[in-house]
Amino acid sequence: MKLTGYFYAFFILLTASAQQNRMWIPSEAQTAYEKMVQNGARFKSSDLYHPEKPSFNDAIVQFNGGCTAEIISPQSLLLTNHHCGYGAIQSHSTLTHNYVEDGFWAYSKSEELPNPGMYVTFVRRIINLTDRVLKGVTEDMSPKERQSRIDKNIAKIKKEIKIKPWQSLEIKPFLYGNKYYGFVKENYKDIRLVGAPPSSIGKFGADSDNWMWPRHSGDFSLFRIYADKNNRPAEYSPDNVPYKPEKYLKVSMEGVREGDLIVIYGFPGRTRQYLPSFAIAHITQNVNPVNIEIRQRALDIMDKFMRTNDTLKLKYTSIYARVSNYWKKWKGENQGIAKSKAISKKQKAEALFLQSASEKGFGKEAREVLDKMRKIYQDLKDPEIAKDILVETMYINNDWIRRGFILDALVRQADTKFKENKKRYLNRLTGEFRKTDNRVSKELFIEMMKYYKENMPPAFRNNRIVQMNFDEMAEEIEKKSVLADSIKMKKLFDLDYEEFVKSLKNDSGYNLAHSLITDYYNNILPAYQQTGAGLNELMRKYIKMLQEAGLYQEMVPDANGTLRLSFGKVYGYEPRDGMYYEPISTLDGVIEKYIPGDYEFDLPAKLLEIYKNKDFGNYRTNGSVPVNFLGTAHTTGGNSGSPALNAEGELVGLNFDRVWEGTMSDLFYDPKICRNIMVDLRYVMFIIDKMGNAQNILREIQSSQ
Ligand code: ARG
Ligand code: ASP
Repeated sequence: MKLTGYFYAFFILLTASAQQNRMWIPSEAQTAYEKMVQNGARFKSSDLYHPEKPSFNDAIVQFNGGCTAEIISPQSLLLTNHHCGYGAIQSHSTLTHNYVEDGFWAYSKSEELPNPGMYVTFVRRIINLTDRVLKGVTEDMSPKERQSRIDKNIAKIKKEIKIKPWQSLEIKPFLYGNKYYGFVKENYKDIRLVGAPPSSIGKFGADSDNWMWPRHSGDFSLFRIYADKNNRPAEYSPDNVPYKPEKYLKVSMEGVREGDLIVIYGFPGRTRQYLPSFAIAHITQNVNPVNIEIRQRALDIMDKFMRTNDTLKLKYTSIYARVSNYWKKWKGENQGIAKSKAISKKQKAEALFLQSASEKGFGKEAREVLDKMRKIYQDLKDPEIAKDILVETMYINNDWIRRGFILDALVRQADTKFKENKKRYLNRLTGEFRKTDNRVSKELFIEMMKYYKENMPPAFRNNRIVQMNFDEMAEEIEKKSVLADSIKMKKLFDLDYEEFVKSLKNDSGYNLAHSLITDYYNNILPAYQQTGAGLNELMRKYIKMLQEAGLYQEMVPDANGTLRLSFGKVYGYEPRDGMYYEPISTLDGVIEKYIPGDYEFDLPAKLLEIYKNKDFGNYRTNGSVPVNFLGTAHTTGGNSGSPALNAEGELVGLNFDRVWEGTMSDLFYDPKICRNIMVDLRYVMFIIDKMGNAQNILREIQSSQ
């Protein structure tokens, strides 16, 4: 049977809708650029990326290895999210200068605050190295032979490509090793804090509003890049000067309207768009439910204590936010996969792929690749669940055992390393004690042990735990173990290596942690890795065959932490039948959500005053101030802090989140419900002006126009 017109059209529809919403490599975004022009773009293709001339990539950096940030002035004022700068803002905060609570504004450069260890990364050049990396590689090679050939080629290329002394060349696989690209990078290491709104604005809505629309958050903070006198990267020094960028983004006060083009540029972390149907089923049916349930139990416990005790609330806020972020995301992901019928759509696409493959003469190979992968996913169920249960119940959501794991990592280092690293470990552990409390840790411990005992696949279950009385063990840890006692912990670190180890050997809490982490390294992780070992190679073949089957016009690689751009329009969405969400929120909505004294929805008195007096200045639009807006650009974790550019290539928004119904976009992008959420730049300027009264910052941005 030939592929009928109907089925073919279905497939094209399926891939085409996704095609528009991919994350393009800036140096290979020609098709995307043409579509942007069709949608009104007036910037040049060379603005997006040019290997020699200044282009947007020279203004957009990866922020501290995770988020994205952009330069918005000739003196390298840097804009990113509040939640990306949070660690830095917090580190400068004390009870007398509480920048988290009150905000921070540097009124001159001398007031800007250095952040040891912080860095930003520029990507200066992107080079397609596919042919050079795969030179001499043939399909009949074993995976091992293939890899060693690739490694040799990469080593050779690294010698051949000339880079500056302060640059580095990173070569990464794309499309599971079907393509390779090189990135010439520069790290700048003197990054200073310039401004941050009070967290009641920067984090407004906190966990309740996280991943949600309508949203009303001023999720931004400001930094500055410093360089040495030659404009080169340098460690912090009071002699450093603001870095003079090759390019900065112009801020537009024009705002956005429904239907406007937006371009998101940044460093998306990870998507898995090409996974077959059964892999999506594995993730949503085997993996996510376990993780969701464990975190649900932990969050319930933290919440119970946080509600009745202010000290505990303050202590656990950051852990709670971290745990709830992905708990909520996985829940949304599962619902989105169901709602968009992703699995059955993928099954249909796979049937079409097999049909096309057999018409083109590789039907047998195509079926084999899918069958082998299906089998691996079946075998992977237990090891993967075991891995996640161990990590979630013993590390992420178990304060005591987590400390045991940290101690164990130090014990595993030899004597010399021990001396070298001791201080760093003690600092980390001290931080852990500051963020937790034994009343909560004890309940978490008991609950997590119970979950582990009931749910750990038998082949991976630790016998000590099966026989353990958790209440007694909890008592013992609380009374006797270093894991529950910060003073004992400090004393432990006064000992030399031998005594240190000896003392831990007599600590039953530590021994339990040691036994669990040993399971992980000796049993669980190897099983997981060995079972899944063939997947990457099979995915590489599958991608290649998908291409050969002729069903994709162009296969855009999944996000992998490298520089990408995506585009879309300002659009609302229909979360449920008969219900439409507008794409723009305003200050009126902020005030509507205001709950005095609430940890998520409280507001600074000053903002209420500004609102009462309608002191909106030039930021007024339709009687209010715009706050957040929605777009159809494809984004993921890492895109936080990404600029949203308008048709002129000017900055109109700051990306920070996605809507809950569309968080499955990492696995399956559905243009109907997937939306990214941005802060309107006018709200950013409004807050700097009216809340911070930082006229110096405002002038710096405005005079760059
Ligand atoms: N959901 C956004 C992202 O994944 C924002 C996270 C920060 N906010 C929070 N409540 N944890 O990173
Ligand atoms: N909030 C995410 C981030 O921090 C962005 C997202 O997942 O949409 O990168």
